[in-house]
Amino acid sequence: MTQIAITRTAHPKQTPPDDSLAFGKVFTDHMFLMNYDAGKGWHAPRIEPYGPFTLDPACCVLHYGQGIFDGLKAFRGADGQIRLFRVADHAKRLNRSAHYLCIPELDPAMVEESIRALVEVDQRWVPSKPGTSLYIRPTVIATETFLGVHPSHSYLYYLIIGPVGAYYKEGMNPVRILASDTYVRAVKGGLGAAKTMANYAASLYGAEEAQKAGYTQVLWLDAVEHRYLDEVGTMNIMLKIGDEIVTPPLNGAILAGITRDSVLTLLRAWGYRVSERPVAIDEVLAAAKAGTLEMWGTGTAAVISPVGELGYKGERYVINGGRTGALTQKLYDTIVGIQYGTTPDPYGWAT
Ligand code: COI
Repeated sequence: MTQIAITRTAHPKQTPPDDSLAFGKVFTDHMFLMNYDAGKGWHAPRIEPYGPFTLDPACCVLHYGQGIFDGLKAFRGADGQIRLFRVADHAKRLNRSAHYLCIPELDPAMVEESIRALVEVDQRWVPSKPGTSLYIRPTVIATETFLGVHPSHSYLYYLIIGPVGAYYKEGMNPVRILASDTYVRAVKGGLGAAKTMANYAASLYGAEEAQKAGYTQVLWLDAVEHRYLDEVGTMNIMLKIGDEIVTPPLNGAILAGITRDSVLTLLRAWGYRVSERPVAIDEVLAAAKAGTLEMWGTGTAAVISPVGELGYKGERYVINGGRTGALTQKLYDTIVGIQYGTTPDPYGWAT
């Protein structure tokens, strides 16, 4: 593997107090960069002081959105050890996103190495208070200066990291979500399975409307019939209906969440009947009315986010009495325990 060139900052910043941390506002002293050029492939891996870089105003990503990212976390356990959660799976997913966006594949070992190297250089930034972590954002952007629409011939892979607290101000308190029959996030055959900027841009307007109506997030329904659940906010959606665990299948419109996979793996090991199948909004409303529903979102940023209320077509449905369900709490505690090294990790997720 090519040697990573490291240039350390001459002006290290002060790290923020753990109890001041929000999500995604503070970044460390360094970043990782690597270029792709036709003929050279991926080259020049390097760690440099964190800071702005220049892009030509005509570069592809600024016009046509040819870019991808991923998101993972490092945790400092009570034992002082820093653990990355499922780093190999995140590196693989970055490559799947690259494939959908016609971006040349990155060597997953190099992606892992870039993450380990940058976290090591900036290890003093990994917070230790429970509920805090170091968020890691690998990103690839198309950099060719050309206004024709075609896959770029040059790219920049960069990695920025920063200490974070809870993603939602609610933390593990249940959120209120609004099922939208107007706005859609992604469509089968489109980019819904890729972690690409466009999907998040597409979510903004609907999310703003939901927030104006007093909800935290949108429950995205499928783009064709507006009937089947896709995702919630920036997370995968999961439900316990009676004794069945259900979550929408990976049908091309949905991101293959790593937390989604972790939760499904745990639930299967615990003996639950788990179905990856289409879930109609009517089924969810009926279960909410019958009081047989527990519902939560899964994602790297929030980990597990309980849903306490669902709005749909002007009606409000309270879920599980508006409280965090017992299974939701157990899943959160187990995953967080593995991340901080306090719960056994039979799957080798934390490294
Ligand atoms: C995640 O939770 O994994 C996300 O994608 C959230 C991120 C866009 C901030």
